[in-house]
Formats: sequence, structure tokens, C-alpha cells
Amino acid sequence: MLPLTHDTAPGCIAAGLDHTLQRARLLGQGSSAQVYEAGPGEVIKLFRPGVSPSMVDREFAAAALAAAQGVRVAAPLERATHDGRELIRYRLVPGHTLLSAIARKPHLGLPTMHRLARLHASIHRRISGSSLRTQGQVLQRDIQQAPTDDRTRSAAAACLAVLEPGSHLCHGDLHPGNVIDAPEGLTAIDWSKACIGHPAADVARTELLLRFGAVHDALERVSFVQLGRSLAAGCYVRSYLLHGGMTRADVLAWHLPVAVAWLRFRQGRPGDAFERYVAKLVARTVRA
Ligand SMILES: Nc1ncnc2c1ncn2[C@@H]1O[C@H](COP(=O)(O)OP(=O)(O)OP(=O)(O)O)[C@@H](O)[C@H]1O
Ligand SMILES: [Mg+2]
Repeated sequence: MLPLTHDTAPGCIAAGLDHTLQRARLLGQGSSAQVYEAGPGEVIKLFRPGVSPSMVDREFAAAALAAAQGVRVAAPLERATHDGRELIRYRLVPGHTLLSAIARKPHLGLPTMHRLARLHASIHRRISGSSLRTQGQVLQRDIQQAPTDDRTRSAAAACLAVLEPGSHLCHGDLHPGNVIDAPEGLTAIDWSKACIGHPAADVARTELLLRFGAVHDALERVSFVQLGRSLAAGCYVRSYLLHGGMTRADVLAWHLPVAVAWLRFRQGRPGDAFERYVAKLVARTVRA
């Protein structure tokens, strides 16, 4: 068990953590953090240097809120800082992510998309008047700061301005790497981008992540991989639409603002398939 006693300073985990982490098993990692097994039934998510403390605060608060609303999540246990690194102690969720499950058994890809859609619809059934950020604020800021041309930013902002805001709990980053297939059922982790907003925008984001999210460079050029991803994304959206009271057009209406906002963080190659897709969306909107 990790010596998770507090230092004299509140919010600081005691010295000794370094030593324990050196021996701890790395369970997984993403772009913002490494996750270590930290004793029976617990993990420590240790954020990479430079990750803003406010983002980590938001992740902790959102996971706690989702748990309080009855969503199956990794329960957040403690928010702390150690040696200049931000961290959250979570309950361990046993099982593999959907991403690793699909990588091991690609033939389960499409049934997995149905399960992902069902989970997403169940999150959206939570209506929340909480302290989370609103989707509109987040999208507006990310669009303004997207590294693209004025025409693209203006088209996305104009599109966002006429869309209905919505008041549902949205995960903001639901993709197969952020869902663990646990014995109790699918469990959504990584709530740092959670917000209150319109489910159709959240579905558009997941669809774009499935179609254009990072894969290995070599794989990106293989056409059957791209085809598989488009099929998976289409299957996820169709399945979601069976659950929630919305249409394909509702989801498509969010593609432009959600895609341009993503440009702010996305580390793709200039002119790649995603950038070509954004250019097509802009051209279509400007023509209309
Ligand atoms: N509570 C948990 N229990 C078990 N494994 C976990 C838990 N939290 C995270 N993991 C593992 O660690 C990996 C990375 O976690 P997480 O997605 O939270 O990191 P991240 O850096 O925020 O990811 P991203 O790249 O999406 O920003 C997960 O894919 C999963 O394998
Ligand atoms: Mg993640």
C-alpha cells in the first residue's frame, strides 16, 4: 500500500511516494498523465510536468460529480501535489480499455461501438445544473485559439452561435481509450474535458475522435485502417441515435465548431485527412 499520508502542507503527498512509484506497476498512460497501481484497489494518476493544476482540479470535480449522479466512473479519492507534480488518487477499475480490447480482437470492433454508444447515451441522461464549464464557453475559446485561418474560425464561430446550448452532462472526450471494460460494466475515465452542454456536440466529438484520432503514423496511410475507422464511427453514431432523441442532422450540425475547436489541441500533420475534412466543412458552410 502506498504511504499516502499527508505532508504538513495540505494537499501534498508525503515523501516516499517517489520511491514507491519507482516500484509501482505502470497501468497505462495518455497524453497528460501516467497511471500507476498504488496498492490494493487504488491507482495514482500522475500528471506530466506542465499540466495546469486547474485542469486537474476540473478532472477531479467532474469525476466526483459524475459519480454523484450515478455514472459508473473511477471514484476520485484524493487530489494532491507531489514534488511539483499534480496527481489524483483514484479507485482502480479492473479490466482493459475498449481500445486495447479492439486491438486484440478487431472482430469485436462493431459490437464494441454499440456498447460505447449505449454508455454515452446513459451519461447524457444526466441533466446537471452544476459548476462544470459550459460547452459553449469551451468551444468558443478553443475556436478563437485554433491555429487556422480567420475564415475557418469565423465559419465555426458563426455556426456555434446559432446552435442550442443544452444542459446535459457531457464527457467531452469519450473514446475507446477512455473507457474500461470492467466486470461491473463499462466505466468512463478521464473526465478533464467534461462540461454541461448538448449531447449532439458530445456525440460529434466522439465520432470525430473515432474517425480522425491519433493512430500510429504508419497505420494512418493504410486505407483499410481508415475504412475500418469510418465504419466504426458510423456504427457508433447510428447506434447512439437509437438511444437518444436526436437525428443525424443534429449531430452533423456540430461537426464544424467541434472540429475547429479540436484543432487547438490536435497534433496531426498539416494537410492530413482531418484538415481536409475541416476545409470541406468550411467550404460547404460558406456556400450555404
Ligand atoms: N482508475 C483506473 N483504473 C485502472 N486503469 C486506469 C485508471 N485510470 C486510468 N487507467 C489507465 O491509464 C490510462 C491513461 O489514463 P487517462 O486516460 O486518465 O490518461 P490521460 O493522459 O488523461 O489520457 P488522454 O491521452 O486521453 O489525455 C488509461 O487508458 C487506462 O489504461
Ligand atoms: Mg485518456
